[in-house]
Amino acid sequence: MTVQLDHHADMLGDAKRLAAFRKAIGEVVRPGDAVVDVGTGLGPLAASALDAGAGHVTAIEYIPQLAALATEILADTAVRVVVGRSYDIDLTPSPDVAVTETIGPVGPEENIVEITYDLKRRYPTLRGIVPRRMRLYAQAVLSERVEAARDAVFTKLIASASGHFDPGNAPHALARSYCEQIYQDDLSDAQAQTERLDLADYTLGISEAPDFDTVVELPATADWNAVTIVFEAQLSDSVTLTNHFSAPQTHWLNSYVARFADTHRLRIAYDAAGTSFEIRWLEEGL
Ligand SMILES: C[S@@+](CC[C@H](N)C(=O)[O-])C[C@H]1O[C@@H](n2cnc3c(N)ncnc32)[C@H](O)[C@@H]1O
Repeated sequence: MTVQLDHHADMLGDAKRLAAFRKAIGEVVRPGDAVVDVGTGLGPLAASALDAGAGHVTAIEYIPQLAALATEILADTAVRVVVGRSYDIDLTPSPDVAVTETIGPVGPEENIVEITYDLKRRYPTLRGIVPRRMRLYAQAVLSERVEAARDAVFTKLIASASGHFDPGNAPHALARSYCEQIYQDDLSDAQAQTERLDLADYTLGISEAPDFDTVVELPATADWNAVTIVFEAQLSDSVTLTNHFSAPQTHWLNSYVARFADTHRLRIAYDAAGTSFEIRWLEEGL
C-alpha cells in the first residue's frame, strides 16, 4: 500500500471534520485516560487525545509508511505509534476511550462498525467511543448539479461514436447503469423533497455488522431527481458530524444516486464482505 498524501491533506484540510473530532475528544477523554486511536493516519486525533489530558495514547495504523510518518510527526509527544491492523494488536493498558475516524466515502466502507465492535468485545471496560453512533439515511432531492453531472457524462459518451461504435445505440441500458452508481459531488444546491428515510443505525461498539438491504419507497411525483445517502455520526453528547447537503461542506462531499426515468423504488444494499454497495431501481416492467 502506498501513502496517499493528497488524500490525507484533504482530510486534514477539512476544518469542520477536525474541529468536530477535537471538540468531541475533549468532551469524552478524562485526565489520565488510556486512549487508542485506530487508523491514526498522520496522527491528528491521537494528538487531540493527548491535548485533552490522556495519560496514555496508542495510535494504530496499518499502512507502514503512514505509521512511520506519524511516528516522526509525534516524535516529541507521549503517543506510541503501532503498525498493524487493530484486530491483531493487544493493548496494555486496556483503553478507556477509543477514537476512530474510519468513516468511508459513504459511511461503513472503512470498517468503523467492525473496528469498534472488535474493540468493545475485547475491552468491555471501554467507557467511550468517538464516534459512538452512526446513522445512514436516504433523502430525495432536487438538484441542478445532478443534471449537469449527468449531461457531462452522456455528452462524452455520445461524442465518442465512431464507425461501428456508437454508445447512442444503448440509451436505456446506459441510463440505467448511470443511475445505479453512487456519486460524490457538492450538492449544496439540493432541495429536500422527502423526510429522512432510515437505512442503518449503528451503535458503535455494539452493532456487530454493517450489512443492510433496504427498499426505499419514494414519492411517484416528478419533483425530485436524486436520492442522497447521508451519514450522521454522533461523536459525543454535543458534537455531530454529517455530510448532509445542507450542512457545511466536508471532504466527503455529498453522496447520491441519480433518479432513473420516473422510477420511485430504490433498493440499497451494503455488503460488508465486499465493502460494496448495490444499487437497483425497482419498477414493474423494467
Ligand atoms: C480516514 S483515515 C483517517 C486518518 C486520521 N485518523 C485522520 O483523522 O486524519 C483512516 C486511516 O485508518 C487506517 N485504518 C483503517 N482500518 C484500520 C485498522 N483496522 N487498523 C489500523 N489502521 C486502519 C487507514 O490506513 C487510514 O490511514
